[in-house]
Amino acid sequence: MTVPKNRLALGTSRRRSGESAHGALSTRLRSAILSGTLPPNARLPSARALGLELSLARGTIVGVYERLESEGYLVARGAAGTFVSACLPAGTTPAPSPPKSQGARRASSKLDAAPVARSFQVGVPAVESFPSHIWSRLLARHSRRATARDLARADPCGDPALRGAIAAYLAVSRGVVARPEQVIVTAGYQGALGLLCAAFPGPQHRAWVEEPGYQFTRHALTLAGLRVQPIPVDDEGIAFAGRCSNGPSPDLVFVTASHQMPLGMPLSLARRLSLLAFARARAALIVEDDYDGEFHYASRPLPALASLEPDGPVIYAGTFSKVMFPGLRLGYLVVPEGVRERLERVATLLTPASGFAAQAATADFLGEGHLARHVRRMRRLYAERREALLSALAERASDELLVTPRGGGLLVLARFAPDRQRSDQDVVRRAKALRLSPTPLSVCFSHVPRRGGSGLLLGFAGLHPSRARAEVDRLVSAIVASPLV
Ligand SMILES: Cc1ncc(COP(=O)(O)O)c(C=O)c1O
Repeated sequence: MTVPKNRLALGTSRRRSGESAHGALSTRLRSAILSGTLPPNARLPSARALGLELSLARGTIVGVYERLESEGYLVARGAAGTFVSACLPAGTTPAPSPPKSQGARRASSKLDAAPVARSFQVGVPAVESFPSHIWSRLLARHSRRATARDLARADPCGDPALRGAIAAYLAVSRGVVARPEQVIVTAGYQGALGLLCAAFPGPQHRAWVEEPGYQFTRHALTLAGLRVQPIPVDDEGIAFAGRCSNGPSPDLVFVTASHQMPLGMPLSLARRLSLLAFARARAALIVEDDYDGEFHYASRPLPALASLEPDGPVIYAGTFSKVMFPGLRLGYLVVPEGVRERLERVATLLTPASGFAAQAATADFLGEGHLARHVRRMRRLYAERREALLSALAERASDELLVTPRGGGLLVLARFAPDRQRSDQDVVRRAKALRLSPTPLSVCFSHVPRRGGSGLLLGFAGLHPSRARAEVDRLVSAIVASPLV
């Protein structure tokens, strides 16, 4: 949708009252966005066109756009123009719009596609900053040029060009050296989990998972009937030493080595080496879920665990959900030769890779360097957002929450102060009513401990720095409304 220029005309009363043209236009735009009159993703007129229409200098319009951009209302997308942010400041209630005709609905569905992230939501990157114009060009290129062969068949393990591009990307960005044939394209990490569950099904297989850990891994393995054993984590990551000498061996050990999910520390080098030795000795496979290893702020992260031993006992799982966007549903496994055939067979029969155009466009997105550029840009943006959230928490929430900053990732873990313990599930219910979406720490445990099991995971990827304080204030109001336990 493009906003007609006359919808932005300034009221003469405001101008007569002495308010500057800059101030009047900023106010007009803000309230049009907050009321939903200018919906998310609407394209604003160019500064030159609007200046001519309102008889204002182009520089005045540029100044207004820049200011609203810094406040999070607008997003500049280079030559494509300036757009209303897909992530509206939370707490706004767009005015109901009149029902659209079918044609209008079809036309606008593409523009409205970006989800409006609620503040503190975990797992959703800054989708409004994704270079959609490049992506649409690549997607259109491959849809247009599709050959009869593309339409007739697809490799169940993924488009060869994408497998090659992933292998090249991993060698540079994560130190993982693999041949393209070892890469199996999946429907995100969840698709990879589905593939692994089908390859190691039922109670004859055992899986170790981190406690606390990523709840989707635990739930998926349990659903598939595997025997799931939670293994506690300490400051160095999964603390499996006590289980080495006794008890049955696991078939799969799931670890988040770059940033432990949810606690955030990396798996130490010593622990990495002993885990590799353990897996080799017990013929177990380590599944390294490297969901956000690209995002680090304080220092360079350790290379992936899989990089320590090429063709060692590690299945490396990567996803494009964080570095591109979750709706893409693309991820991959890099598999050791010993299990390649088994996993290829499952992929062929049960979990084939998805449509060719998105895969081919993703291959170009990597191959032409767009992904590396986007990740670099996002690292800077997330560093700023993380910093803003940490200082807002220190300034406004230190009575209630204790925060241990993590060196990377896209979330902050906040625990309740020792004398202000509350049920994290209750706090989250209250926060949801305020349109905030923190995640309770307790969902990451299979057995929630009496101490240290309650807290909040706060995603910052979608939180504009200008809103950090206000959103933390709203979070604190949900916290203090919840009874102490
Ligand atoms: C630990 C962990 N692994 C993987 C993922 C990505 O999952 P998917 O690729 O299915 O979107 C996430 C997303 O939040 C995550 O937190």
